[in-house]
Amino acid sequence: MATNGSPSPRTFRVGMLGCGIVGTGAAKLILNAQPPLRDKTGIDVQITRVAVRDARKARDLPLKPAVFTTDCEALVRDPEIDIVVEVIGGIEPARTLLLEALKRGKAVVTANKALLATHGKELFEAALAAHSSIGFEASVCGGIPVIGAIRDGLVANRVESIHGILNGTTNYILTRMVENGAPYAEALKEAQEKGFAEADPTLDVNGTDAAHKLVLLSDLAFHSTFNFKEVHVEGIENVQADDVRYAAQLGYALKLLAIAKRRNPGADPDEVPGGLEMRVHPTLIPQNHPLANVRAENNAVLVQGDAVGEVMFYGRGAGMLPTGSAIVADIMDAARGSARQTFTKLQFFQNPRADLPVIPADKVRSRYYVRFTVKDQPGVMGKVATVLGEHGVSIASVIQKEPDASGTVPIVMLTHLTIEDRFREARKKIEALSFVHGGSAVFRVED
Ligand code: NDP
Ligand code: HSE
Repeated sequence: MATNGSPSPRTFRVGMLGCGIVGTGAAKLILNAQPPLRDKTGIDVQITRVAVRDARKARDLPLKPAVFTTDCEALVRDPEIDIVVEVIGGIEPARTLLLEALKRGKAVVTANKALLATHGKELFEAALAAHSSIGFEASVCGGIPVIGAIRDGLVANRVESIHGILNGTTNYILTRMVENGAPYAEALKEAQEKGFAEADPTLDVNGTDAAHKLVLLSDLAFHSTFNFKEVHVEGIENVQADDVRYAAQLGYALKLLAIAKRRNPGADPDEVPGGLEMRVHPTLIPQNHPLANVRAENNAVLVQGDAVGEVMFYGRGAGMLPTGSAIVADIMDAARGSARQTFTKLQFFQNPRADLPVIPADKVRSRYYVRFTVKDQPGVMGKVATVLGEHGVSIASVIQKEPDASGTVPIVMLTHLTIEDRFREARKKIEALSFVHGGSAVFRVED
């Protein structure tokens, strides 16, 4: 017993695989949280072992050098360790190490959305078989407790849609480009220096990271298992400052949105039956949309449920302490024994989803922003409008700018709702017209 009469704290021993941005954040919070975690929870969390690539590297942590090792396999087999926290990233060796830890009955916590979105079923089944658990709050939206909120808080709802800004790096880049005119490469470098970007930042800017997260949120929200390959993904690499400006003149902001949306079977003969649209792409949203003012590395998830209506979760989606905060929450959940109970009752990856096929990308329904660069001559606008009309694409608004020194003008159009394959066909025909210069810029619009 402790001297003040309260019971001695129970010890819970953590082995960490990785100690970079996220690992350091989690360790700092375990070691320095105020008030200390044991005062709040009655559990004394101890970092017993930390496996890294370079055990001699100086770390900004009050941990003895002997705690560090390069032997990940020994860490996951160590009988002294109760929980393995994986913050290495990537698929291997993370996958093999976690399977080994689970086989030995250890609880697991991970921030690795790439691993879970591609090998989640295998890992979740291994955890169930071992009566263990996998905590993955840190894998989506950094410090925002959105996994627990969707899994538990919204359990009574049939979720209709998720619209999310799920990647901090790209949101940071777009914010710096729009608000400060920063060049794309400079904004990306800043995001890397601040610790938001993935080890390979291509995964951020090409939309893959947001798609990984969308899969995890959709598994929970729609009680199914989705395959990462089913998500239609486009990144921000080709976004041009001109389009962001024209969009603003039309009253829209540009965000990299991750969207999962139920669609009921339509009356339109061109439409496929109902299902789920799953897509990540740069998207125009009205400037007064709740997601339009989510800036910098912040993330937000807007969920539409049949009972609750719209709910939005907002906060820091990347970085050392926000993500460390989510890791520590999952560690405490495991230490209390609640993670195992929750996990063994999760059904999503066992449910067939014959009723919820993912709708192919060319059958997605959307409005479009499109910019063509054309010769400044009479009749051009009419011809473009005619081709769109022939494909059943109707125009909602148009802006045409003054010609530049080369004698070309940009025509910017917003369409009404249409089906992707109709729009693509019309766009291809317009790009082939003799008075059109180069390709066009296209963004989908969500209202
Ligand atoms: P870092 O690159 O900063 O850290 C990776 C850590 O893993 C380093 O400590 C590195 O060792 C160690 N490591 C890498 N490979 C091995 C290996 N083969 N064996 C042993 N140790 C290894 O990554 P982050 O902390 O940024 O990201 C970690 C995970 O968290 C990723 O899955 C990422 O997607 C996810 N995540 C990241 C967020 C962020 O804001 N950064 C937010 C949410 C999730 P050493 O230090 O010696 O190099
Ligand atoms: N690279 C990720 C991002 C880290 O920028 O959002 C958080 O998952």
